Amino acid sequence: MPLLVVVGAQWGDEGKGRFVDWLAAGADYAARYNGGDNAGHTVTVGKQVFKLHLIPSGILQAGVTAILGNGMVINPRTLLEEMDRLSQAGIEITPRRLHISYAAHLVTPAHQALDRALEAARGRGSIGTTGRGIGPAYTDKASRQGLRMVDLLAEDFPARLEERLTGANRTLQALGAPLLDIAAMNEEARLWAARLKDYVTDTSAELHRALQAGKTVLAEGAQGTLLDLDFGTYPFVTSSSTTAAGALTGLGLGLTAAQGARVIGVVKAFQTRVGGGPFPTEVHDDLALRLRGTGANPWDEYGTTTGRPRRVGWLDGVLLRYSARLNGLTEFVVTKLDVLSGLETIKICTAYRYGNEVLTELPYGATGLTAFEPVYEEFPGWQEDITAVRRWQDLPQAARDYLGRVQALVGAPLRIVSVGSERGQVIEL
Ligand code: IMP
Repeated sequence: MPLLVVVGAQWGDEGKGRFVDWLAAGADYAARYNGGDNAGHTVTVGKQVFKLHLIPSGILQAGVTAILGNGMVINPRTLLEEMDRLSQAGIEITPRRLHISYAAHLVTPAHQALDRALEAARGRGSIGTTGRGIGPAYTDKASRQGLRMVDLLAEDFPARLEERLTGANRTLQALGAPLLDIAAMNEEARLWAARLKDYVTDTSAELHRALQAGKTVLAEGAQGTLLDLDFGTYPFVTSSSTTAAGALTGLGLGLTAAQGARVIGVVKAFQTRVGGGPFPTEVHDDLALRLRGTGANPWDEYGTTTGRPRRVGWLDGVLLRYSARLNGLTEFVVTKLDVLSGLETIKICTAYRYGNEVLTELPYGATGLTAFEPVYEEFPGWQEDITAVRRWQDLPQAARDYLGRVQALVGAPLRIVSVGSERGQVIEL
């Protein structure tokens, strides 16, 4: 199967990284197509825990070539840090197997400073961004004043960067935020160019050739469908196309490349979100603590990028169906089923109440969710520890019933269930 898209079906943090790592074992390319270092993908290999922000998780499989696509916004500073960290952990990071699109946009310190200053200025209406400069970088892209990877290689790059930083300082001053040290940043930018120039290439042409030659390309979505700029809980969204469609524009592939593609939705067995915005099935108190974990383990519900505790709640089946439709899921996987073990009762929201109406479809997509009250179906829980289960038939009946209902809501086959954070802790169907 040539093109495989892995997409988060919720608000991000579904556990995509470990599935991409797993699926990448049979792939030739792993490609990121959206977002930047706002993403945080955790992959556990043996005793090593890798946290990836920009580089596709597929890089951890030796035979894979990793692509940073044109749809991304890339902070060269964090990219270089991540490359160094992976190299030190024994992962080959060379121009032979890491390719960066010349058309990907740069995230500069100006974007980060603006992101934080704008969030502060929003006060109580803040989005709860990761502060990584993602929104301002995509704003510059859309307003046609962004700097791209290819610009980093040009001789006039320092002058162009300086011009942008000076402009940013004017805005920062107006917002009462600290100003940027332009001279120091220009100095650092020279190093970026020297270290990254051999990695920059035409990744769209490369992927096109690869698909024509029958190679397998694994497109790795970052964030989740409900954070999509068009279809998420706007304005509490990120600034990129997080859906499967984003893989085409974000990698420079034609529609025909997608024919016969597999689109794999990653669904966490419960719902989480980090940052502001509506969350109809959110829970609090003891149950929230139970689902979130204490933070002692890397897979507990604390942001990989920011460390913020994630908001948690019951699975939202209405939003899940919406997500399945938007992405055209051909199949899905469920992560973290083991976290639900030991609960007396498990709930799934299968409709919303709005006044006297009960809705199973959303009138304006994910807009206006705060006005809706969830209608739940309840399922008996299971008490067994399922972390060692490797076969469907060995799962408790209650767990199978729960997953059966989830499958009916998604309307596509369930392929894999994860019951722990290790590479091998999965049940294949
Ligand atoms: P931004 O992408 O930093 O602009 O943040 C916008 C919204 O997306 C905020 O609610 C963030 O918490 C959320 N967000 C961004 N990246 C991720 C992610 O990788 N996982 C989960 N939420 C994210």
